[in-house]
Amino acid sequence: MTGTSSPSGDRARPRPWALLAELTHGCPLHCPYCSNPLELTRRSAELTTDEWREALRQAADLGVVSAHLSGGEPLLRSDLEAIVAAADGAGIHTQLITSGVGLSRARLGRLVDAGLRSVQLSVQHADPSASDLIAGRRSFVDKERAAALVRDSGLPLGLNVVLHRHNLDALDELIDLAPAWGADRIELANTQFYGWALRNRAELLPSREQLTRAQQTVRRRRDELAGTVELVWVVPDYFDGNAKPCMGGWGAISLTIAPDGTTLPCPAAASIPGLDAPNVRDHRLEWIWVHSRAFTLYRGTEWMRDPCRSCELREKDFGGCRCQAFALTGDAAATDPACRLSPDHALVRDLVDALPEPPASAGLGKPRSPARRAAVTPRG
Ligand code: SF4
Ligand code: FES
Repeated sequence: MTGTSSPSGDRARPRPWALLAELTHGCPLHCPYCSNPLELTRRSAELTTDEWREALRQAADLGVVSAHLSGGEPLLRSDLEAIVAAADGAGIHTQLITSGVGLSRARLGRLVDAGLRSVQLSVQHADPSASDLIAGRRSFVDKERAAALVRDSGLPLGLNVVLHRHNLDALDELIDLAPAWGADRIELANTQFYGWALRNRAELLPSREQLTRAQQTVRRRRDELAGTVELVWVVPDYFDGNAKPCMGGWGAISLTIAPDGTTLPCPAAASIPGLDAPNVRDHRLEWIWVHSRAFTLYRGTEWMRDPCRSCELREKDFGGCRCQAFALTGDAAATDPACRLSPDHALVRDLVDALPEPPASAGLGKPRSPARRAAVTPRG
């Protein structure tokens, strides 16, 4: 998630307005860019219904007004309706982030009755067999059916596509899915390389030429679809020398609660050592947000070293992404190597400069997935 402002706080005394509630790491799909951590939480270690109810009450007290109910696949939680109702009762707007697998008309009806406000559906490719290949199982047909159910329910529907080497050239067809399936928004999110995506980076990184073509497509389709479908383009930060304002700043507008209650400024932060990751089972969210080491260590700009410390963009991009800085340099306080001013920028620049164009029929290789197996098989 990116963003730059908070309706419920300012930079000096930030308050969160968004919560990413990762209800489970369980998932029927095996996408090679999965944002789940490499060490997945067991189902038996997940927060209980009552623990989520309490966490949502505390989140609302803290200022949270919007919750993304995510995973893994949140539909795997049989108490999802109760969690939605708890959020709604606390005054929090809920969006379900789902693969669509397992969504029935009856289940959606119960979720709507509980107070669900919108649905975001993941899509891997516009071609059914390519989509199933990337997802690691037959699922395109489930997505198409889920989209129809959401449309019939009257809830707003958004699509989310993680973009990479193996679907960027199908961008026109992917965008076509939004009006065809009744979505009013499509988020085109270039892969962010943490966790599983970093492991599978060599298979996923697009070429510069692919990205240039994709950006032209987005500009053209934005004009064509203006007033009907919102196109959101999440920039690929490896390519243009600009660091992204990750999470709208560390501990500035958003918090993430993992399936086992671990609470961090972003979903990938569990990979950073030394954060003493707090847990809602042990601490109140207020204390976690205001005082915990995990939320205060990289908040604001005091922690920065040069070049960020003296850079005029430090209040705009917050030095980039801490998780990416750690993943690429081993130092979470380093300037994000995506920034052209970073002393480590060659780590990404040399990588993308050396990328070849993919052959027209390129299939996925053998990326590793959260299921610890080849998610997909070569297509030739
Ligand atoms: Fe952003 Fe730091 Fe780069 Fe300046 S030096 S543009 S603050 S990442
Ligand atoms: Fe960017 Fe964690 S993913 S700060």
